[in-house]
Amino acid sequence: MKSVADAPSTELNSQEPQPVILTSELRKVYRTGFWLNQKVVSLKSCSLRVYRGETFGLLGPNGAGKTTLLKLLLGIIRPTSGRGLLLGKPLGNGSVKHHIGYLSENPYLYDYLTGWEFLQFAAGLFEIPRSVQRQRIPQLLELVGLSSQDARKKILRRYSKGMLQRVAMAQALINDPDIVFLDEPMSGLDPVGRFQMREIILSLKEQGKTIFFNSHILSEVEQICDRVAILAKGDLVCSGSINELLGKNNAYFVKGTGGDWEVLQKWIPSIQFAPDGCWQGKLDGEPYDFLASLHLMGGQIMTMNLSRPSLEEFFIQQVEKTQKSFQ
Ligand SMILES: Nc1ncnc2c1ncn2[C@@H]1O[C@H](COP(=O)(O)OP(=O)(O)OP(=O)(O)O)[C@@H](O)[C@H]1O
Ligand SMILES: [Mg+2]
Repeated sequence: MKSVADAPSTELNSQEPQPVILTSELRKVYRTGFWLNQKVVSLKSCSLRVYRGETFGLLGPNGAGKTTLLKLLLGIIRPTSGRGLLLGKPLGNGSVKHHIGYLSENPYLYDYLTGWEFLQFAAGLFEIPRSVQRQRIPQLLELVGLSSQDARKKILRRYSKGMLQRVAMAQALINDPDIVFLDEPMSGLDPVGRFQMREIILSLKEQGKTIFFNSHILSEVEQICDRVAILAKGDLVCSGSINELLGKNNAYFVKGTGGDWEVLQKWIPSIQFAPDGCWQGKLDGEPYDFLASLHLMGGQIMTMNLSRPSLEEFFIQQVEKTQKSFQ
């Protein structure tokens, strides 16, 4: 059995870089049903650290618990057990709200306000002075690619899905936050919109902001994130930099001629002939031992390239592993 001493703690070591987000065995069980007698385990035991200035991507299939974790970090819901710190304060502490921006999965926007009025309303909640609002609102509209005219004239009811996502992003940044939480920021955006959102996230990173975001769009995550974590069925399956995660699965793709086919099949289980008559496939074993063995067989190597899976392949492998362990 796990002892209390084994549990990752929220105690900080003054020698280490200070995380801005720190969770220790965070767990959330929802109670549902008329008598609240049914349990849904949404998050099992999540321990993670996110450091200042990092872009951190939380990945996972539908229902994995991503939004639940984000809501726990923001203090919107309370954990069933476990602890966490946000900017050094316990989760749910109201004093950090001024330093946080949040783009929710399904932003609730006021249909009959124009984009400009909505941003003024959001700025009012943070008690941002009018003089600052007059500067910041047009800057944010420009950043998210909404024209000032549209924002002044059109009510949100007449915005397209992509325009709503942009105005919601502008609202998340209205208080010039230190940490920005984004739940599926690319959702509803066309390829140009996704590119612009990526540029916005990169520009926030350049300003030194910490970005924590949930996403399904793995190619985007691969391009922008310093570190990622994968959640599956409420379990934190792995976390680390893209290089750490994908590097662990390094494999060589080899192409050559000659040698003993039976021996080659042992080294390269997926071996097949290429149109040019060479054999090729993914090496299963130590590259130096293989080269020595090939030399002894009288074979010749033509190319040998390091092939690593994309984040998408890695993600699918990890999720499938978790699904099998539940069967
Ligand atoms: N308020 C709630 N009451 C009961 N169960 C809930 C509640 N909110 C979420 N859940 C359940 O918790 C699990 C995780 O949900 P969550 O919304 O965190 O997933 P997600 O990873 O964000 O999924 P998606 O990618 O679809 O947004 C799901 O099984 C969901 O049905
Ligand atoms: Mg979600």
